[in-house]
Amino acid sequence: MGNKEVSRIDLLIEAHIGLKRQGPGSSEMTIKALRFLDNIDKIARVADLGCGSGGQTMVLAAHIHGKIIGVDLFQGFIDAFNDNAEKLNLQDRVTGIVGSMENLPFQDEEFDLIWSEGAIDNIGFEKGLTYWRKFLRINGYVAVTCPSWLTDKHPAEIEKFWMEAGSGLDTVGHNIDAMQRAGYSFVAAFTLPEDCWTDNYFVPREAAEQLLSEKYAGGKTVEAYIKGDKYEVELFSKYRQHYGYVFYIGKKRRGNARQKGTDYAGGA
Ligand SMILES: C[S@@+](CC[C@H](N)C(=O)[O-])C[C@H]1O[C@@H](n2cnc3c(N)ncnc32)[C@H](O)[C@@H]1O
Repeated sequence: MGNKEVSRIDLLIEAHIGLKRQGPGSSEMTIKALRFLDNIDKIARVADLGCGSGGQTMVLAAHIHGKIIGVDLFQGFIDAFNDNAEKLNLQDRVTGIVGSMENLPFQDEEFDLIWSEGAIDNIGFEKGLTYWRKFLRINGYVAVTCPSWLTDKHPAEIEKFWMEAGSGLDTVGHNIDAMQRAGYSFVAAFTLPEDCWTDNYFVPREAAEQLLSEKYAGGKTVEAYIKGDKYEVELFSKYRQHYGYVFYIGKKRRGNARQKGTDYAGGA
């Protein structure tokens, strides 16, 4: 039996470190987002922010020939990221570093593309896009996934869950306006299908958490942690038509003028 008083953050890392992805997503959706970018063959430098162990990064590396740098807060994820890059013989052009996506160690206009799956909501969609913009060259792309409202019905339980997790949800139209205000032209938005949450994330996470509940049997922190995640799964199965992860793709506009966003009328 392990230390029953393991911290919540250590549990989160231990539960996620062996998973292909640390949040909802899939290779197919990463590739679908990439298809909205022109001139992929000219992309020389990419930053993947909140990269985790690099599930999506390795997919990007299979389609982009340039260098990719992954940034994540946690050393454990970055160690797994660099191991994964090495296993795929990508270590010469795919590197992970520990850092915060709110305080990046990069030069202005250093990147052709900034990617971020499942992470921007930790600092706020508009805040993140606004800060990251200077690191992109003019006409460089940004592609992020962010949990968003998909309908006009905003169930209170979901609102509360996501506020407590650190960020509220906004509608797709609101986020597209925010992207434009932050200095990008809107390119595309689409919703991730349900299997990105279920088969690709909840199912492997539940298996990892089963092992944790055995390892730390009787620990209050582990019980509360797993209960919280089960609640997330229940909420998703109850309300999944109303919210989801949406991929947003934008292109850095010249100049700094903050444009009024256009109304978004289509389905994501
Ligand atoms: C939901 S996971 C997504 C990981 C990966 N992009 C994926 O889709 O599988 C969010 C990631 O963002 C990282 N993260 C959260 N806040 C961060 C910050 N301020 N700076 C850098 N990384 C952060 C977490 O450590 C975690 O790896």
